[in-house]
Amino acid sequence: MKTKNLRFEAVTPENINLATKIELGFFPDMCAYCSYEDSFNNNNVYWIVYDENEIVGICGIYENANLGEPKTCWMGWFGVLPEKRRHGYGKAILDKTIKIAKEKGYDTLRLYTSATLCPEAIIFYDLFMDFGENYTLEETDLERKVYTKSLTRKPATKWNNRKLYLDHEKNREDEGMKKYLLNLKKK
Ligand SMILES: CC(C)(COP(=O)(O)OP(=O)(O)OC[C@H]1O[C@@H](n2cnc3c(N)ncnc32)[C@H](O)[C@@H]1OP(=O)(O)O)[C@@H](O)C(=O)NCCC(=O)NCCS
Repeated sequence: MKTKNLRFEAVTPENINLATKIELGFFPDMCAYCSYEDSFNNNNVYWIVYDENEIVGICGIYENANLGEPKTCWMGWFGVLPEKRRHGYGKAILDKTIKIAKEKGYDTLRLYTSATLCPEAIIFYDLFMDFGENYTLEETDLERKVYTKSLTRKPATKWNNRKLYLDHEKNREDEGMKKYLLNLKKK
């Protein structure tokens, strides 16, 4: 496998529509527009990922003060374009995201996903994160998992099925979809 020469281009007001379009290709019912927009005014950061001049995927890291772990960042809105999968891009993007998270001083990287919606992601995270735990407090029709990776020499603590407030995330996604469609009309 050739070494990946990835370029992480931050999502900004200039490329937010492009980033959202790519993201909706992965998750058609879940709109990241508000997450992207919020990141212009806080510590969160999302990227469109290029190999040379070709887009290969998207990713990002965010803090969530409501979840009570100030040194944890969460990985969100991660995906590799279908035609680019199984070429090592996912692992290369995860590795670079981990490096950036360490540089920003976080001690733990977590993410949540769904085995029902993203079965390939479960195989991927089982390989590359430290551990996964079932999450059963909300959206019980979906098999949810929280994955964790330590960013230090110390083993990470478990999430232990604490609440993620997914209802709030869902509201933001719905609001994001409205804003995205409005923004598209304006351009
Ligand atoms: C999960 C995802 C990001 C993986 O990206 P990728 O670029 O295909 O990952 P890689 O090529 O780096 O895969 C690394 C290893 O993970 C495993 N793997 C990845 N996808 C797999 C699949 N569909 N089936 C079996 N193993 C898989 C393999 O061991 C692979 O190594 P190999 O190809 O040498 O066998 C990609 O499938 C994706 O974007 N899925 C849709 C969106 C999504 O689910 N995002 C995550 C939501 S939280």
